[in-house]
Amino acid sequence: MQPDSIRQLEADLLARIAAATTTEELEAARVAAVGRKEGAFTQIAKEMGRLAPEDRRQFGMLLNAARQKVEEALEARKQAFADAVLRARLDAEWIDLTLPAPGPRRGHLHPITQIQRELEDLFISLGFAVLDGPEVETEYHNFDALNIPPDHPARDMQDTFWLEGGNLLRTHTSAVQVRGMEKLGPPLRMIAPGRAFRNESVDASHEHTFYQLEGMMVDRDVSVAHLLYFMKTLLTSIFGREATVRLRPGYFPFVEPGFELDIQCLICGGEGCPVCKQSGWVELLPCGLVNPNVLRMSGIDPEQWNGFAFGLGLTRLVMMRYGIDDIRQLQGGDLRFLEQF
Ligand code: DAH
Repeated sequence: MQPDSIRQLEADLLARIAAATTTEELEAARVAAVGRKEGAFTQIAKEMGRLAPEDRRQFGMLLNAARQKVEEALEARKQAFADAVLRARLDAEWIDLTLPAPGPRRGHLHPITQIQRELEDLFISLGFAVLDGPEVETEYHNFDALNIPPDHPARDMQDTFWLEGGNLLRTHTSAVQVRGMEKLGPPLRMIAPGRAFRNESVDASHEHTFYQLEGMMVDRDVSVAHLLYFMKTLLTSIFGREATVRLRPGYFPFVEPGFELDIQCLICGGEGCPVCKQSGWVELLPCGLVNPNVLRMSGIDPEQWNGFAFGLGLTRLVMMRYGIDDIRQLQGGDLRFLEQF
């Protein structure tokens, strides 16, 4: 037994420990070095008895030093493995808190707003002003000034949400006609898009809240031909092609004569479908020549001036354009529906 063989053993064991890449390999190296039964150091220690007493002390010191080095190497390698496991876990859990957060989801304009803006652009190009009126209206602006006095049967046609103090939620944007005449005086061209409210039971074709776009032109010698010209321009612009229309007489107290302008159903092309209730036509645009009483009540002399007015159902128009068959979808707030537009 030579000091050199101890140095050789130490070097071999240290190399084996350094080469271990798994805990199993490291454990095998530990058993080979310091295992109680088969370990190299255990074996050598057993043989020490055979040495001469004067050599035994020096040899023992050498052996202990070698064993301590090997044990330290084992411990250091074990710690390195544990560190690697921990680092792998931390790497997997790493979050960069300095990264910008994912932004809010981007939305888009509601289809009703889109159509409303298109129409505003069109009418502005035709010389019309875009007016805004209050949704909480006076009885005067919503009814009386439109030639609908308190006992008039037309009030029953529009189920009104009455408010305390005699005001109401406007039942149509026609109320803004009155405000327009008061504000602008003749001659005038105006449109007024906005919400209207009726106390209706809600179903696939009725909502308590819906959108209209009111229009009015007051000038000298305005005729049904002017009205038709503007209505056809309007519809061609909306649908991107000439729409087939028909006029029927319609009754509204604020126009005389009054019409219902129907458009041939764009869903079925006039064949008949659920949207047009199998008739091939959709009622879209009530209109007429302004009743002289209405002009007079807003201080305009009907001997000098006359005009036309129309009330376009924006909600219904959107339904026509996109083939939507249930009005409740539009205000339902379901993003899966809205994201389609
Ligand atoms: N205000 C009417 C309604 O909501 C629609 C209407 C009809 C408006 C004829 C008009 C018009 O301007 O001339 O039922």
